[in-house]
Amino acid sequence: MKNYADLWLGYSEKKNNRDCKALRNIRLSGAPESDKVVINAVNELKTGLKTMLGFEPEITFGPSSAPVNATNGKEILDSEEYKISLADDAVSVEAKSGSGILYAAFDILRTIACEKDFAKTYSEIRTVRPSNPLRMLNHWDNMDGSIERGYSGESFFYENNEIVINDRTREYARLIASVGINGVVINNVNVKQAASYMITDRYFAKLAELGEIFAGYGIRLFLSLNYASTIEIGGMDSADPLDEGVISWWKDKMAEVFKKIPALGGFLVKADSEGRPGPFTYGRTQADGANMLADIVKEYGGIIIWRCFVYNCRQDWRDRKTDRARAGYDNFMPMDGDYHDNVILQIKNGPMDFQIREPVSPLLGGLRKTNQMLEVQIAQEYTGHQIDVCYLIPEFKEILGFKTYCSEDNDTVEDIISGRAFGSRYSGIAAVTNTGNDFNWTGNYLAGANLFGFGRLAFDTGLSAEQIAEEFVRMTISEDDRVVSVILSILLPSREIYERYTSPLGIGWMVNPGVHYGCSVDGYEYDRWGTYHRADHLGIGVDRTDKGTGYAFQYNEPNASIYNSPEKCPDELVLFFHHLPYTHVLHSGKTVIQHIYDTHFEGYEEVLEMAGKWDSLKGEIDDGIFGNVKERFGRQIDNAHEWCDQVNSYFFRKSGIADEKGRQIW
Ligand code: GCU
Repeated sequence: MKNYADLWLGYSEKKNNRDCKALRNIRLSGAPESDKVVINAVNELKTGLKTMLGFEPEITFGPSSAPVNATNGKEILDSEEYKISLADDAVSVEAKSGSGILYAAFDILRTIACEKDFAKTYSEIRTVRPSNPLRMLNHWDNMDGSIERGYSGESFFYENNEIVINDRTREYARLIASVGINGVVINNVNVKQAASYMITDRYFAKLAELGEIFAGYGIRLFLSLNYASTIEIGGMDSADPLDEGVISWWKDKMAEVFKKIPALGGFLVKADSEGRPGPFTYGRTQADGANMLADIVKEYGGIIIWRCFVYNCRQDWRDRKTDRARAGYDNFMPMDGDYHDNVILQIKNGPMDFQIREPVSPLLGGLRKTNQMLEVQIAQEYTGHQIDVCYLIPEFKEILGFKTYCSEDNDTVEDIISGRAFGSRYSGIAAVTNTGNDFNWTGNYLAGANLFGFGRLAFDTGLSAEQIAEEFVRMTISEDDRVVSVILSILLPSREIYERYTSPLGIGWMVNPGVHYGCSVDGYEYDRWGTYHRADHLGIGVDRTDKGTGYAFQYNEPNASIYNSPEKCPDELVLFFHHLPYTHVLHSGKTVIQHIYDTHFEGYEEVLEMAGKWDSLKGEIDDGIFGNVKERFGRQIDNAHEWCDQVNSYFFRKSGIADEKGRQIW
């Protein structure tokens, strides 16, 4: 019986590949048998094949036995790269490290779990190198067990201010390694209270153990750091990065920390934002803060991941020139090139905060001399709280493919974060994760597609959103073709459907303050003086052109001119950049107001349709999964209905313009 709580690793009996002779003899080369990652890879291959195909493979170590096809036999260069080749009677895996072997093992197991023809799949030698050097998950888990923006139970790392290590910890490492994650930050970026003590004796032993468990799956452990630790736990009265006393405290602290937690990869820092302390307090720059820490951790091979989410959350923007969207660029661009080589700037995908639609941050493509990492959010903070289905991989594909025009070629976000564009030493992608201690990890089973998908995409940005979704469904829910196609037809358009019934045309933020679920058209909590959308009886939108906040000119050309012009700006972002009359005609041929009405009615209808499709799977999939998602669809329908009603009636009353299709708006 398949264990559905294991998500895509719940191996079950398969029909295909049972007589594939090659699978009975797997030869591994490139890392010693005694390597702990190799040991985990071997166990995975043995149990996986035994459960799925009914036999345990014989696993041998040593040089490849399979014939090397000269044209395809590319040399393996990267430590996480692997090569799989097939002879009649053996499968051969070559790598340069345990991680490479582990990733190859999961590649093989995925092929079998998806019921693909094994011999055909590997008829050509397969050489795979991860697209991004760093592929990380950021937990926003607090030490009391709660999770900031967590929608699937409590933390499985902490309980009552203690670190918990149990079978689930190992299962988690295995689960995320199977999709290629190689770094994990286990505590909230908002490092408060007890979490400040993570870098003290109180937690060292547990953290060292945790670090080892993750290392066994090729994953490095990272911690979020409280920038003001010198004050919070050091008994000092300053956190000035240029103060000799502060620097010397950190030197001693880091020597202790890296000695006690040998597997530690480094730190993630949120400074000078939303109440967090930082170098600005001392009149210093973000580079001063990041470099001070980076210089100290360098001798331990540590890195400092410094977030660019630095803005004033109490900003008064009534003057129409002040703009939160500008903050990242304004704060970080002037120091491009000043950050030391073990600092990585982690940049949220958009300039605001994980709305369902935002332009790509202009820092990506702005910064040219700094290590960069993209930050996305699979915790569905603004995208439905893992109640509403919202498959985010299509959005991430769009972001990765965005042309920044930072150079002649190699100018997409994907090029930048892979390190290709500027030859960066460290780069990659991180997601604020969507996991918790719910039995199925992500609350809604379908939200598991975002966890799976983020890892798969980070590892191989060439995969399509559809390929990834299909793998997820086949491995996690069912291999039945009808079931697969029904679920794909739910997942693939779900992000655009969510966008249709929530905030229109890139405007964002119409959510209940604080909670960020449910509709509140005027709900923007970061502006005490007015609404985010700036709607009045004539029009709606934020003017970010040269006549407004000037934000559009943070982009390279031609993006700047495209965004600056209401005629050229893509419809889906037009209200992000422009304040327009309700009667403005979009590229679609509709007026702004008619677009608002139509998309909201459509979005709600589409949710009903998705729920109906799910209902049609009753009896064809596991009852537990069916019930779990059905219950959430019930709540999504209510949510979409409320959004549709509130948004349409709000703008009908504001504009006084009737729906041209004569539908009733209350
Ligand atoms: C959002 C979110 C916060 C979080 C912040 C961040 O503002 O609501 O909970 O702390 O992002 O990214 O740091």
